[in-house]
Amino acid sequence: MKIAPSILSADFTKLGEEIKEVEAAGADYIHIDIMDGHFVPNITMGPLIVDAVKKVTNLPLDVHLMIEHPERYIHEFAQAGADFITIHVEADKHIHRTLQEIKKLGVKTGVVLNPATPVSAIENILEEIDMVLLMTVNPGFGGQTFIHAVLPKIREIKRMIQAKNLEIDIEVDGGIDTKTAKLCKEAGANVFVAGSAIFGRTDRSLAIQELRSSIGN
Ligand code: DX5
Ligand code: ZN
Repeated sequence: MKIAPSILSADFTKLGEEIKEVEAAGADYIHIDIMDGHFVPNITMGPLIVDAVKKVTNLPLDVHLMIEHPERYIHEFAQAGADFITIHVEADKHIHRTLQEIKKLGVKTGVVLNPATPVSAIENILEEIDMVLLMTVNPGFGGQTFIHAVLPKIREIKRMIQAKNLEIDIEVDGGIDTKTAKLCKEAGANVFVAGSAIFGRTDRSLAIQELRSSIGN
């Protein structure tokens, strides 16, 4: 079980300290939300921030690309220090090719599905994927409400992975708190992104601890 705080909800006037705090509190990954104002309505950060984050932490960087044409930026994010690059299946017409590119750069591959995208969309490329990210909100903003209709998709992808005898992490992102993390864990998820449930609290250590105990970890 891994906890990945999303820095989207961190205080950007002291980002370095915020990251060090969650690292000390036992976070497993740092989740970085890249938004381009096209694939999603919001604009956030780019490779420059990934590079800066890399300098202040030893934790693996989980870079979630919510951008059109992710294939154009793979090199930049790899160079900036991404350990995982996750791309949306809805944003890439040639996703198999992009996954090969990511692997060639020595970075772990992730594929993301919006709530309305069926898991069958990635059935034929599962062998190329290290992590499947199921969005549990519509991407674009922190602090949204968890969409319960995604739970059956977690079970479905878990079955699909097991049937193919593959080792692929199942990550969930959006509206994750102690209650929803538990539901996702029961459905088969093992990587939990949380923005407001961690950075929205004054005691981040307690927030991570509570999340962990909710998933029996
Ligand atoms: C939403 C982002 C999330 C976001 C989660 O589009 O992908 O990573 O930061 O924030 P919370 O945990 O507040 O829903
Ligand atoms: Zn995200």
